[in-house]
Amino acid sequence: MQVIRTIKNMQTLSKALRSEKKTIGFVPTMGALHEGHLSLVRRSKNENDATVVSIFINPTQFGPKEDFKQYPKDEKGDLNKLSGLNVDAVFIPEADEMYHDGFNTTINIGHIGEILCGASRHGHFNGVATVVEKLFNIVMPDKTYFGQKDFQQTVVIKKLVKDLNFNIDIIVCPTVRETDWLAMSSRNSYLNNEERKAATILYKALKQGEALLGRGADDVSDVRRGMKALIKSEPLAEIEYIEVVEPRTLQGIEKIKKPVVICLAVKIGKTRLIDNLVVE
Ligand code: PAF
Repeated sequence: MQVIRTIKNMQTLSKALRSEKKTIGFVPTMGALHEGHLSLVRRSKNENDATVVSIFINPTQFGPKEDFKQYPKDEKGDLNKLSGLNVDAVFIPEADEMYHDGFNTTINIGHIGEILCGASRHGHFNGVATVVEKLFNIVMPDKTYFGQKDFQQTVVIKKLVKDLNFNIDIIVCPTVRETDWLAMSSRNSYLNNEERKAATILYKALKQGEALLGRGADDVSDVRRGMKALIKSEPLAEIEYIEVVEPRTLQGIEKIKKPVVICLAVKIGKTRLIDNLVVE
């Protein structure tokens, strides 16, 4: 497994792979890898001749009061996991390699990045779109793999690829969950024991929303009310949003017309968690 730290060396490898007519699968990450990331890597290994993983905690997608400085790091552990999966290359640039002095060009993804999580995380999705676009130009993949847990991110990336004519397939893979159904996330490591138990309320609320839809609720406000009451029964939980949206556009709906995605963001103590469920 090659560990590559410069853009030039990464581009040289990608060009060589492409000239040998090898397909490149790419899994962009911010490290602190868990089973969710590894499931994306396995899928890429199955579907491509070569798999590249990036590890880069992207400063431009964090707000000034967010957890950029505390974001978990475990380069050695990550490299062990990836070499165990026979990944071909890991791209691990420093921030000044990705954002040179005078860097000034950014992507503005528009409205889709300002709703749901974007309403409280101003500029977050522009930062994601900018770094993902840069990574696409550096790694030059044929297929890229993202987890459904970050549903809004997957819609943003699909829009970026369509709007800017990238010839890259975006593959969205199922959310990987712990045995008590909490969605795997690097940020789960922030939770203490009590908070970790409380965090199971997110998935319970999503299943409650799904059950309400299954029982024929056709008004989103009824679904939202039921989910809200359940989350409020957990003292450590504070709701940021609960929305039922159309999966392609993320537009909020009032009357249910399936498929829909139930999305939520909830703070457990100081940790902000997100999750979602697609209801067909
Ligand atoms: O999902 C993530 O880990 C990040 O948002 C990504 C896609 C690697 C961009 O920094």
